[in-house]
Amino acid sequence: MKLTIDDVKTRFIKHLGGEHGSIYASPGRINLIGEHTDYNGGFVFPGAVTQGMIAEIRPNGTRTIRAYSIDLKDYDEFSIDDEKGPNASHFRYIFGVVREMMALGVPVEGFDTAFAGDVPNGAGMSSSAALESCYAFAINDLFGDNKIDKMTLAKVGQATEHKYIGVNCGIMDQFASIHGKKGNLMRLDCRSGEFEYFPWNPQGYKLVLINSCVKHELVGSPYNDRRNSCENVVKHIAAKHPERQIETLRDCTWEDLEEVKDEVGETDTKRAKYVLGEKDRVLAVCDALEAGDYEKVGEMMYQTHEGLSKDYEVSCEELDFLNEVARDCGVTGSRIMGGGFGGCTINLVADELYPNFVETAKAKFKEKYGKTPIVIDVVIGDGSRKLC
Ligand code: GLA
Repeated sequence: MKLTIDDVKTRFIKHLGGEHGSIYASPGRINLIGEHTDYNGGFVFPGAVTQGMIAEIRPNGTRTIRAYSIDLKDYDEFSIDDEKGPNASHFRYIFGVVREMMALGVPVEGFDTAFAGDVPNGAGMSSSAALESCYAFAINDLFGDNKIDKMTLAKVGQATEHKYIGVNCGIMDQFASIHGKKGNLMRLDCRSGEFEYFPWNPQGYKLVLINSCVKHELVGSPYNDRRNSCENVVKHIAAKHPERQIETLRDCTWEDLEEVKDEVGETDTKRAKYVLGEKDRVLAVCDALEAGDYEKVGEMMYQTHEGLSKDYEVSCEELDFLNEVARDCGVTGSRIMGGGFGGCTINLVADELYPNFVETAKAKFKEKYGKTPIVIDVVIGDGSRKLC
């Protein structure tokens, strides 16, 4: 479904009655490289996409939220003062954001809202961050005089995942959704919070996602286990080096890992090995981009896939298959994108190879798994904003 503002406006009046409110939008994201590095204090390289979430919101002064999900055709009402909140996750995201904004001192007074999105669910393109960021941005505007800075708004979304959904995610998705800028990727240093925009206009190449449609679900998934493994390795290294300020794997070296590998065991060692490699790859990609060396960028993407599949073990058969097809078609770079456990591959492909690649990927995947994967051409769009 291609979402329009008019669809949202029509449904808002139909389900909530009265006058129109204000309309806000927030995007999903892609990530060129830097996967599972955010909660390890490393670098990420995301960009916002043109698919996202749109919400109409009208303050109602009743200290309740009356919310309608257009996509799920589901309605609920819940108090902003009742700590329990709603059960359905699509409403919990909103509730969590409201509670976190209230904790920051924003005088939320309740609102009526209808929302819809066109970020494919479970594709690893951060549909949930789009929803959180949309409401964080809107609440700041409607109730908070826009006093809260963007990075704090991103942290509101992240805290919502941690406290209300149970996913101990990093900051990348919410950061990208809020800060996105048309035509630009962003390199974020997740330790310092510093970031820079990188114009993304590769001459002769396209970025395309192939969605395996294997449902990626981070809730209750081994995502948190991966994070725990990394933190366990850090704990062991820090204990050996009290003189150094070791907080995350960002502060650790290959020698450090070698030193603790027997203590932490094979699995945690493999997880940390992937992260240390990825830390270096993001920086190599930045240099390669500055030099216009897309072959190098692609090589790093394949290495990331390998690491995510063999060491971090967040791939699945279908994604490994799509990666192989990309390689066979001569695609410059290809890898799993996002948290893993399903979703998309992101592919950097030369213009002249693009038609053959997408057709081959669709046909081979269909032949093997009986369904056609979805091809999504990446267009880098703007971050959270008020539409009207
Ligand atoms: C999910 C999380 C992010 C990040 C990625 C993996 O999208 O929400 O914080 O950890 O996985 O890079």
